[in-house]
Amino acid sequence: MLAIIGGTGLSKIEAFQHAGFKRVLTPYSDKRIIIEFYKHEGKKIAFLPRHGKEHSIPPHRINYRANIWALHSIGVNNILAISTVGGINSKAEPGTIIIPDQIIDYTYNRSSTFYENNLNVVTHIDFTHPFSKKLCEQLRRVFVITDELETEKQLLVDGGVYGCTQGPRLETAAEIVRLKKDSCDFVGMTGMPEASLSRELKMNYAMLAISVNWAAGLGEGEVSLSEINHIVKDRADFIVKLLKSFIKHYV
Ligand code: HPA
Repeated sequence: MLAIIGGTGLSKIEAFQHAGFKRVLTPYSDKRIIIEFYKHEGKKIAFLPRHGKEHSIPPHRINYRANIWALHSIGVNNILAISTVGGINSKAEPGTIIIPDQIIDYTYNRSSTFYENNLNVVTHIDFTHPFSKKLCEQLRRVFVITDELETEKQLLVDGGVYGCTQGPRLETAAEIVRLKKDSCDFVGMTGMPEASLSRELKMNYAMLAISVNWAAGLGEGEVSLSEINHIVKDRADFIVKLLKSFIKHYV
């Protein structure tokens, strides 16, 4: 089954038919994880808003292990993660839609592995290519084959390095200079450990990122939250169109 993990601005998908929910108990929390189900063209998908239904869980407090474990436990094998990022590379200007192909992890103090306790043997997963090539290719194809996305095709940024910072504060201008030197093309706060936990459970994971601001120090003045919210709202219809086409062709 395909799961969509919703980020900022995507805590439900009204355009899809709601098809119930499941409350999943995991070894990683006393609270159950609520997974919603939607149907589109007769196909059922799972949906999990990572910041919670009310958008009240900040990036560093998300229980990534519980979320990914819960999705795995209900039979999810493909994950499309929708995220917002700040643009560092000049191509990733606000409003563009990005399919990242690499990650640098700057987060700390997050519970970032399932391979921690009660191990028979120390386990290291391969993470050379953090995103699923198959899902990234399918996302790319959706841009090409969907007539309704004709005008949005030029917004696609195909590939690039996602720098994952701890948050919840945004970065300093100097931190962004450092990320740029490190080869990051955009910066977000939630891709890790979401991507590596998915890999640990052998689930395919790809990200569709919306650039919602220039990263700190690269735009004019300070990073504006109202501008971020404006772009998130502005791109919502597009994301739904893209998800519909993805489900139609690949689920
Ligand atoms: N930095 C980190 N995360 C983000 C940003 C940013 O500028 N914009 C959206 N998510």
